[in-house]
Amino acid sequence: MQLKSSIAALLQCLAASATWTAYEEYLSGLPKHISRRPSHRPSLTFKPNEPWNPLPSSPPRHKTCYVHSHDDLKTDDSKYILEALREWGDIGTALNLQFLKHIDIDIQAYIQLTNDTAYWQSHAFNQTFQNATTFFQLGGTDVNVYGGGMLDGNGQVWYDLYAEDIYILRPILVGVIDLHSGSISNLCWRYSPQWYSLTANSTDVVFSGIDVSGYSQSSNTAKNTDGWDTYRSSNIVIQDSVINNGDDCVSFKPNSTEILVQNLHCNGSHGISVGSLGQYAGETDIVENVLVTNITMFNASDMTRIKVWPGSAAALSGDLQGGGGTGRVSNISYTDMAISNVDYAIEITQCYGQNNFTLCNEYPSKLSIEGVKIAGLKGSTSVNYEPVSGYVVCSSPEVCSGIEVEDIDVVAPDGTRNLFECGNVDESLLQGVTCKPVQDD
Ligand SMILES: *[C@@H]1O[C@H](CO)[C@@H](O)[C@H](O)[C@H]1NC(C)=O
Ligand SMILES: *[C@@H]1O[C@H](CO)[C@@H](O)[C@H](O)[C@H]1NC(C)=O
Ligand SMILES: *[C@@H]1O[C@H](CO)[C@@H](O)[C@H](O)[C@H]1NC(C)=O
Ligand SMILES: *[C@@H]1O[C@H](CO)[C@@H](O)[C@H](O)[C@H]1NC(C)=O
Ligand SMILES: *[C@@H]1O[C@H](CO)[C@@H](O)[C@H](O)[C@H]1NC(C)=O
Ligand SMILES: *[C@@H]1O[C@H](CO)[C@@H](O)[C@H](O)[C@H]1NC(C)=O
Ligand SMILES: *[C@@H]1O[C@H](CO)[C@@H](O)[C@H](O)[C@H]1NC(C)=O
Ligand SMILES: *[C@@H]1O[C@H](CO)[C@@H](O)[C@H](O)[C@H]1NC(C)=O
Ligand SMILES: *[C@@H]1O[C@H](CO)[C@@H](O)[C@H](O)[C@H]1NC(C)=O
Ligand SMILES: *[C@@H]1O[C@H](CO)[C@@H](O)[C@H](O)[C@H]1NC(C)=O
Repeated sequence: MQLKSSIAALLQCLAASATWTAYEEYLSGLPKHISRRPSHRPSLTFKPNEPWNPLPSSPPRHKTCYVHSHDDLKTDDSKYILEALREWGDIGTALNLQFLKHIDIDIQAYIQLTNDTAYWQSHAFNQTFQNATTFFQLGGTDVNVYGGGMLDGNGQVWYDLYAEDIYILRPILVGVIDLHSGSISNLCWRYSPQWYSLTANSTDVVFSGIDVSGYSQSSNTAKNTDGWDTYRSSNIVIQDSVINNGDDCVSFKPNSTEILVQNLHCNGSHGISVGSLGQYAGETDIVENVLVTNITMFNASDMTRIKVWPGSAAALSGDLQGGGGTGRVSNISYTDMAISNVDYAIEITQCYGQNNFTLCNEYPSKLSIEGVKIAGLKGSTSVNYEPVSGYVVCSSPEVCSGIEVEDIDVVAPDGTRNLFECGNVDESLLQGVTCKPVQDD
C-alpha cells in the first residue's frame, strides 16, 4: 500500500509547501507545543444507550513502538508502519492489517492516500459486495485506533475520474474487515473516493468521535460518500460523530444486527438507511435489532429510510434492476430526531426500484418488514415534495407489519404538517400522520 504519513511533531516546517486542503486543515489544528508522547486511549462511554451486547474488555498495552514519518510528503511510509505492526502479529501482506491482536494504533499524523488511481485499482482490497474495494483492511482481535490524526483519501482525482468512467473502482477510505472487538475513535476522515468506511464480517466494534467531511471542488460531485456501511456484522456502535457528506450518513446493508447509532450530526446526506435489501434473488438479507437515537439531520434527502426491493419480477420495465431476494427487516427503532431542510422525514418503501405502484403490488416483496418504531421526530422538510413530508409504502399488507409512528411534528415550508403518502400500511399505527394515497411517479 502506498501512503504518505507525517507525524505531527515534525510537520510545522512543511507548512509552506502544503497545498492539500485537508492537510492545511490538519496543520491549522495543531497544538502550539507538540509532544512526542503517545496519546491516551480514550475511555469510551455510551450515552444515552449501552451497546446491544457487552463489549469485551481491552487490557492495557505494555510496549510502545513509534513510527516516525519521513515527513517529506514524498516517501511512502507504509512499509515502516507495517514493520512496526508486525512485531505484534503473525503475518501480513502490504497493508493487509488483518493479523492484529491486542494492539493500539495511535495516529497523530496526517496520512494521505496517494492519488495513483491506476495503482489502487489493481491493489486495493476487493470486498466483492457491491464491487467495493478498500485502501487497507483492518482486522483481527482487540484493536483500538485513535489519536486525533487525519486520513485523507485524496478524493478529488477520483471524483473527476468517476465522471468519465463509472466502472472505475473507487476505494473506500477505511476498511474494517473481520475485526472482532475494537474501537476506532477520535479521528478525522477526509475526501474519501467513495464510502468513508465499510465494516464487514465484524463483531463488537465501536466508532466514536469521528469527524467526516469532504466535498468536490470541481463540477463533478463526490458520489456515494456514505459515512458508514455495515455488512455481515453484529454488535456495532456508531456514536458521537459529525458527518458532512453527500450520500447515506449510515447505511445498514445485508446482515447487520445489533447495531446502535447515537448522537450524530449529519449534514447533506441521504439519511440513516436500512438497505437496500432484497436486490438479489436467492439471497437472504436480514437487518434486525437496530436502535438509532439522538440524531440531527440537515440538508438531506431523508432522515429515516428503509429501502426494500419488490418481489421477483420477470420481464418488467427496464428501470427494475433487482428484486426477489428474501429476508426480513425487524425490530428497528428510530428515536429522538431533529431535522432541517430534509426532503422526507420518513421514507419507507418496499417497492424500491419500481416507481409503478400497481406493478409493485403485482409482485409483492419476499423480504418482510416486521416492526419499525419511529418516535420523536421534529423539524422542517424541504420544498422537494411539499406539501408531503413522508412516504410509507409497502408492496402488500401481508409482508409488512408493525410500522409505528408516534410523537411526530414535521412541517413543510408551506405550513402543512405531517402529510404522508401511504400504501398497504396499517394507518392506525401512524399516530399524528395524515395519509393520502400514494401517487405513481
Ligand atoms: C498527484 O499528486 C502529485 C503529488 O503527490 C501531484 O504532483 C500530481 O499533480 C497529482 N495528480 C493529480 C492528477 O492530481
Ligand atoms: C480486484 O479486482 C480488480 C477488477 O477485477 C482487479 O483488477 C484487481 O487486481 C483486484 N485486486 C486484487 C488486490 O486482487
Ligand atoms: C465475509 O465472509 C464471507 C464468508 O466467509 C466471505 O465470503 C466474504 O468474502 C467475507 N468478506 C466480505 C466483505 O463479505
Ligand atoms: C461490478 O462490476 C462489474 C464489472 O465492471 C459490473 O458488470 C457489475 O454491474 C458491477 N456490480 C455492481 C453491483 O455494481
Ligand atoms: C445528543 O447528541 C448531542 C450531540 O449531537 C449531544 O451533545 C447530546 O448530549 C446528546 N444527548 C444525549 C441525551 O445523549
Ligand atoms: C452543511 O453543509 C453545507 C455544504 O453543503 C455547508 O455549507 C453548511 O455549513 C453545513 N452546515 C452545518 C450545520 O454543518
Ligand atoms: C444472512 O444471514 C442468513 C442467516 O444466517 C444467511 O442465510 C444469509 O446467507 C446471510 N446473507 C448474507 C448476504 O450474508
Ligand atoms: C444546511 O443547513 C444549515 C443549517 O440549517 C444551513 O445554514 C445551510 O445553509 C444548509 N446548507 C445547504 C447547502 O443547504
Ligand atoms: C427490540 O429493540 C429494543 C431496542 O430498540 C430492545 O429493547 C428489544 O429487546 C428488542 N426486542 C427483541 C425481541 O430483541
Ligand atoms: C403501471 O403498471 C400497470 C400494470 O402493468 C399499467 O397498466 C400502467 O400503465 C403503469 N403505469 C404507468 C404510469 O406506467
